Amino acid sequence: MKQLDLWDPATFHSGFPHDYFRYMRENEPVFWNEHPVWDGYWNVTRHADVLRVSRDSDCFSSQPDPFLAGDRPPSEGDGSNSHMLISLDPPDHTKMRKLVNRGFTPRRVRDLEEKIQAQVDRLVDQVSEKTSCEMVSEIAVELPLQVIADLVGVPEEDRHQIFHWTEVTFGFDAAYTLEEQVEAGAAMFAYADQMCEIRKMEPHDDLISVLMEAEIDGESLDQIQIDVFFMLLQNAGSETTRNLITTGTLELIRHPDQLQILRDDPSLIPNAIEELLRFTSPVMQFVRRPRYDTMVGEQEIKAGEPVVIWYPSANRDERAFENPDALNVTRDASQHLAFGAGGPHFCLGASLARLEAKMMFEAIVDRFEDLDLGVEDPSTLPRLHSNLIDGYVELPLRWKSIKPAA
Ligand code: HEM
Repeated sequence: MKQLDLWDPATFHSGFPHDYFRYMRENEPVFWNEHPVWDGYWNVTRHADVLRVSRDSDCFSSQPDPFLAGDRPPSEGDGSNSHMLISLDPPDHTKMRKLVNRGFTPRRVRDLEEKIQAQVDRLVDQVSEKTSCEMVSEIAVELPLQVIADLVGVPEEDRHQIFHWTEVTFGFDAAYTLEEQVEAGAAMFAYADQMCEIRKMEPHDDLISVLMEAEIDGESLDQIQIDVFFMLLQNAGSETTRNLITTGTLELIRHPDQLQILRDDPSLIPNAIEELLRFTSPVMQFVRRPRYDTMVGEQEIKAGEPVVIWYPSANRDERAFENPDALNVTRDASQHLAFGAGGPHFCLGASLARLEAKMMFEAIVDRFEDLDLGVEDPSTLPRLHSNLIDGYVELPLRWKSIKPAA
């Protein structure tokens, strides 16, 4: 089979290449790819092997960062990403994760419930006079961004500025230059510094205040760590959840029998969200590097060689899921790896993302009558320019009417 350039964001312009990965899982489950800047990299495709690499942090390091260099110059060497939580290894990672966990206790997430419901109601109300919309910009982008702003404590008037910086720093729009990305990152750091200054004078009931006060074994976060975490949260929390919402909605419309199951029994929505996470895998991969020579499956990997773990492939592995290419909202999909594979970096925002998705899909299932796509052929819809995040740039929807919020 012809090798695909999996480092190249353009490879994913028409979606994740499931046929290619199905073939590789069967025939060459851990395979080598050429890379224009690195010497090359290994690709791990099977569920069991992705689990192993994710969980074995004694062997597999996330340093200098876990990103697959794409068509922009790699960050490797300049160290700009290496202080992020997601790039740290134990024991540094363990310490920092304990500190930031203080801001993500089940109580803090539950406390956001009312605010999330209010945002969902507001966003759907905003389109309720119409019979069509562009879902990404009018609904899906806003929800996670607003929720993170509520969590972190960004005042209303600054939110759109932060959203803009988030878009630029992630660079999914190839039109942004590297300089613009760097500038937006610096502006975000300066903004986080300013938030801390204000809270030094008067603590607020928000995540920034919790992070400033958090102390474990006499250690606390310094200003740079807070700044970097602020930026990671904006990116990790918003660019991912929005795609679960849009691609999830698209898949439910494409599978009307599954949407009907949820209409008949909305209590299945949390289960359906796990299946949609499995089926759509909004985050495609992360990179690890072994500290010493090791084996993954039957393949020997040398110390330091980049190893890419592919979540969408693991989530469609026939060895882990029956009939994996079928969307089945009643199946037990709990072993999916869309939030990671239970290793030390397992998604910090998983319960928040689940809560946002639950409330949004409840509204989609309950409030929209005769929901349909506003485009004949969804395969022509533009997708993100990314090798990390899979999602649509646009998703036109239409419907007959929208019921008022319950
Ligand atoms: C559908 C939505 C989401 C998906 C699919 C997703 C997926 C992931 C994945 C695959 C990882 C890496 C796991 C690993 O390496 O083992 C991760 C890490 C992370 N996620 Fe999420 N995520 C989502 C939403 C969120 C939200 C809402 C937040 C925050 C508000 C968030 C914050 C983070 C952070 C901070 C990390 C790094 C954790 C660490 O390194 O210890 N994510 N996420």
